[in-house]
Amino acid sequence: MKRRAFLTGSGTLFLATLTGCGGSSNNDTTSPQSPASYAPLKIPPLREGADFDLSLQEGAVEFLEGLFTPTWGIEGDFLGPALRVRTGDAIRLSVTNNLPEATTLHWHGMRLPGPMDGGPHQIIQPGETWLAEYEVLQGAGTNWFHPHREGVTGEHVYRGLAGLLIVEDGSSESLDLPRTWGEDDIPLILQDRRFNADGTFDYLSQPMEEINGMLGDTYLVNGTLGAGIRLPAKEVRFRILNGSNAREYDLRFSDGRAFRQIATDNALREQAATLTRLRLTPGERAEIVVDLGADLGDTLTLVNADDGDAPLLVLDVADTPSSITTTPDTLTTLEHLDPLQAVTTRTFRLGMQMGLFTINGVAMDMERIDQVVPLGAVEIWEIINETNMLHNFHVHGTHFEILDRNGSPAQIEAYETGYKDTVRVGPLERVRIILRMEDYTTDESAPYMFHCHILEHEDRGMMGQFIVV
Ligand code: C2O
Ligand code: CU
Ligand code: CU
Repeated sequence: MKRRAFLTGSGTLFLATLTGCGGSSNNDTTSPQSPASYAPLKIPPLREGADFDLSLQEGAVEFLEGLFTPTWGIEGDFLGPALRVRTGDAIRLSVTNNLPEATTLHWHGMRLPGPMDGGPHQIIQPGETWLAEYEVLQGAGTNWFHPHREGVTGEHVYRGLAGLLIVEDGSSESLDLPRTWGEDDIPLILQDRRFNADGTFDYLSQPMEEINGMLGDTYLVNGTLGAGIRLPAKEVRFRILNGSNAREYDLRFSDGRAFRQIATDNALREQAATLTRLRLTPGERAEIVVDLGADLGDTLTLVNADDGDAPLLVLDVADTPSSITTTPDTLTTLEHLDPLQAVTTRTFRLGMQMGLFTINGVAMDMERIDQVVPLGAVEIWEIINETNMLHNFHVHGTHFEILDRNGSPAQIEAYETGYKDTVRVGPLERVRIILRMEDYTTDESAPYMFHCHILEHEDRGMMGQFIVV
């Protein structure tokens, strides 16, 4: 095992204030106590181009002072690089499994052929290399990659396998958006973990966790515990991924300030949305721009209001900007599908039976195709949560838009309008989405998946398969 010392930094004081998620929710608007110090946020290295070699490997990280946590990573000890590709490019992703176990690597949010999806059928055995080649068909957005092997996805992601796959296109590049990586364009992979006394990750050691999902008591942002970042006093863009197995985030800034959301899961918004709060369930992404132009010399904190305003990231506005950006409100145009053209409505009932999570009464079966979807057909999918717990719903190989929740378009939150690939379906809620599988057919050798993205639910049955004909 590698013993590589990582900065755990000056964060001892802050650490004490941070290792405490799981507390009671409250919605008060008082600022949490401002942390005295922070560990510098790790920024995943940015790789650009069309040709990527990715090694899945074992590592070790000193999250807690003096203790080395065995981890898995992609081209590193924990998490992976951010890949930046361009619309229209033919990309080639060569994934080598240097781990002791079979796994897969799925490109979440991407339109791609079934055999390139990296789902449960595209297993990479230890020592093997798997090649995913496809054309980037979609516009600018922040997507991601993570393992997807049947039954062990939660464990493999928890160990550290995940990374960002960013798409840019000509029109996103012509907008005056913050785009300097690590300076005013900051990725935030939000995760939670629990540690054993010896520093190893604790996964599912508590009785109800297989049902409720794995909730850690310690937040990591890009694998940094007690993270903060020094920022310029200007507009800053955050590309936020909820990379947690089961935790939901209700994001806000400690001073309650407004910010603009410029992108949903896998695309820019047509119009920026002005928000003070933003909810992300596991797998969902958002890009936001926050204006720090008047904050030189101040600090504020990004917090999780779903967890007693637990601090996630300190924004230390300490630098005079060398240039400014003026993010416009109009960002792009998107094609919208017309519900009147929908030829089919499919129903997906999320339930539980005998300790397994089910969709339409059955748990995931690799040998069973659950839905056959015609290529190019506009379809409405209705997802009905028949349980008392939170689920969400993710569809592979496409994007969708949300039509309504509980029959009401007014129950779609402002931050959910636009292209999505994962949607929150609260206890006993009913959500309708509209989509079209328009790019590729695929057969039973390489079906696409739909599933709950609470990974412990996915691993215990709440997933199904569809082919496109
Ligand atoms: Cu991000 Cu099928 O998963
Ligand atoms: Cu996916
Ligand atoms: Cu679920």
